[in-house]
Amino acid sequence: MSRTLLVTGGAGFIGTNFVRYWMENYPDDRIVVLDALTYAGNPANMEELRNDSRFRFYPGRIEDFTVVEGIFRWERISHVLNFAAESHNDRSLMDPTGLISSNVTGVSILLECSRKYGAERMLHVSTDEVYGEIESGLFRETDPLEPRTPYSAGKASGELQVRAHQIAYGTKSLVTRGSNTFGPFQFPEKILPFFITRAMQDKMLPLYGDGNQVRDWIFVRDHCSGIATALLKGEIGQVYNVGGGNERPNIEVTKMVLQALSKPETLIKRIPDPRGASHDKRYALNTEKIEKLGWKPSATFEEALGKTVQWYVDHRFWWEEIVNSTRYRQFVKAFYGPYLGEDL
Ligand code: DAU
Repeated sequence: MSRTLLVTGGAGFIGTNFVRYWMENYPDDRIVVLDALTYAGNPANMEELRNDSRFRFYPGRIEDFTVVEGIFRWERISHVLNFAAESHNDRSLMDPTGLISSNVTGVSILLECSRKYGAERMLHVSTDEVYGEIESGLFRETDPLEPRTPYSAGKASGELQVRAHQIAYGTKSLVTRGSNTFGPFQFPEKILPFFITRAMQDKMLPLYGDGNQVRDWIFVRDHCSGIATALLKGEIGQVYNVGGGNERPNIEVTKMVLQALSKPETLIKRIPDPRGASHDKRYALNTEKIEKLGWKPSATFEEALGKTVQWYVDHRFWWEEIVNSTRYRQFVKAFYGPYLGEDL
């Protein structure tokens, strides 16, 4: 039987990639996207889907009960995937309260509507950051939640809503925790698209602190297939780590970007760490649990980084519109101004 998926945040980075992944792999299903089109959600990401009869778009916020309930009533949603979130640590440090409504209240509303209208599954897309940092070894799903930034605390709070709804009401919900994701359509505020687009403009790359912080990188398509696996084969009430198994320090990733674009390492500018004590040193995930469902990441980091750099080279019009906007320039100036001087 065909499904109708509600994909929240479907105009954002991972959501946009997930919609494409799903339409290619499950062509009989319908997709309904709900997206608030904040600074990071981009209607241009959905342009080519506009005339596809399997696709429908609603602008709106997950924290707006009336809108969410209307969609559930009207569209007969069978599966819910929550990608909608304020997802940037640096912005969360500048405004620690702004993320609560989407990352916590919105999750609760989606759960409530999923229960009320009998959705078969509600999958909440979360992050490895809910664990906090780990010096050595790998996080398992049973490890405690010890978030260290306002953003990751918001994501952990959202997850706890999922857990409580599932226990209290039997809502058919589950959670995935993804690692650092990269690929096409990522807003140029996260390190990879930020550094790629800046290097292409011969601008300085502001590397925080010693640059030895380690992230576990996963290509967006692998992250999407992990989420799809958990949605279709995961057990209700469970949590699944979705990690790429590609641990790299930031300095190494930065040098790889410069090499891919044939730009000099003199573009690297080390700056005092703006995240201070809350800057997590290392994340790394144990993925045995989701591998038992038959999932494995397929892209190597080198190959996926090459494809990503090429996408930004080929889609200059996409990111130039963003980086030349007043809103973006204001953010870069507010956050990086003290470190980069005129090179914004
Ligand atoms: O781990 C999953 C998380 O990955 C997601 O939940 C978040 O939504 C996503 O933003 C990402 O969080 P990070 O804080 O790790 O990503 P970001 O790209 O902002 O930073 C990656 C690393 O690069 C981090 O150690 C900080 C550093 N960095 C970042 C920027 C933007 C720099 O050194 N310079 C920069 O200009």
